[in-house]
Amino acid sequence: MNTELAKNVHWVGYVDWPVRDFHGYQTKRGSSYNAYLVRGAAKTALIDTVKAPFAESLKRNVAALCPLEQVDVIVCNHAEPDHSGALPAMVAACPNATVVCNAKCKDALSRHYDTAGWRFQVVKEGETLDLGGRTLQFFDTVMCHWPESMVTYLVEEEILFSMDCFGQHYATYRRFDDEADLNEVMQEAKTYYANIVLPYAQPVANAAKKLAGLKLRIVAPSHGVIWRSHFDTILQAYLSWHVSTPTRKVVVFYSTMWQSTRKMAEAIVEGANARDVTVKLFDLKATGDTELITELMDCAAFAVGTPTLNQSLMPRVAAALTYIRGLKPAGKTALAFGSYGWASKGPQEAEGYLTAFGCALLRPAITCRFAPDDATLEACRQAGRDLADIAARVP
Ligand code: FEO
Repeated sequence: MNTELAKNVHWVGYVDWPVRDFHGYQTKRGSSYNAYLVRGAAKTALIDTVKAPFAESLKRNVAALCPLEQVDVIVCNHAEPDHSGALPAMVAACPNATVVCNAKCKDALSRHYDTAGWRFQVVKEGETLDLGGRTLQFFDTVMCHWPESMVTYLVEEEILFSMDCFGQHYATYRRFDDEADLNEVMQEAKTYYANIVLPYAQPVANAAKKLAGLKLRIVAPSHGVIWRSHFDTILQAYLSWHVSTPTRKVVVFYSTMWQSTRKMAEAIVEGANARDVTVKLFDLKATGDTELITELMDCAAFAVGTPTLNQSLMPRVAAALTYIRGLKPAGKTALAFGSYGWASKGPQEAEGYLTAFGCALLRPAITCRFAPDDATLEACRQAGRDLADIAARVP
């Protein structure tokens, strides 16, 4: 169902309830691909599209508001296929439409799709487009989330179509933030930030500063709910997440073969729990990378456990560390630990990952041959206390 944001401004997107994988991001609450239709006195503009399989739904939503022949402009804020996938179908269905985007986006679109025959209008930073009593203004937001990312501002209604910024992978038939469970929305916004935005935290902060001068009555991202009542809540959260502000939290995660590394993990947790900080323990057999990075984003310190398997670390740990390395959580103190049979390699390899993404190592890896003895377990407890002491120093 199309939802009105303002007179002649409608959400026309698609709610993807069943999606559970978004290029490796586990979307446990589904998602939405938000597209918007803005009708001025002279022209009609579609702001973004949806994933390719849902093009027919987008066409129906637009056609319910105006004939497709009357769509004059299709703004493409971002070439990633969750928003541009239906663009070829919409260009074909809207014979009078010109695709409006920046130069980098035009290039990216031509590499994704056969754009021969498409009409383009390339816009620059701050440029405006008059729809007749409705003015669209375009601002580049480089690396929020791709190099060509752009946002569109509807001047008269003070609505910012903010693309991926402030989005959430969250399926709901209620379109606005004040109609949904705000705790759930913020939880998904945090997960989205940790899994999508984190490596681009500085460009997003730069964009937020650049757009701070705009009057914002509504902020309409391309995923999840539209912010009309609680924008300050998500903005403050972004400001906090962007500097990776640590909290008084220690995270311990591990994989285990014959329970020795699990025992070491539990000893670390026991030591950390002796301090007044939050401590969380995750067995990677039961924990996905999406949840893990969300927990790591705001911890002050963490420990990663892996046995040595075939002179390397456990594949599940390698996968998690590879995922974490790409997202670059900053400013953590970390520890590697784990058991081995005849040569300790796994924890040392894990240390390589930790230093690669800028962690300070608490101490050299704690290792034990086959099963941890009392001295090893006490070393783990002490390391837990030390990690917790670091977390406890967070104001
Ligand atoms: Fe939702 Fe970067 O696309």
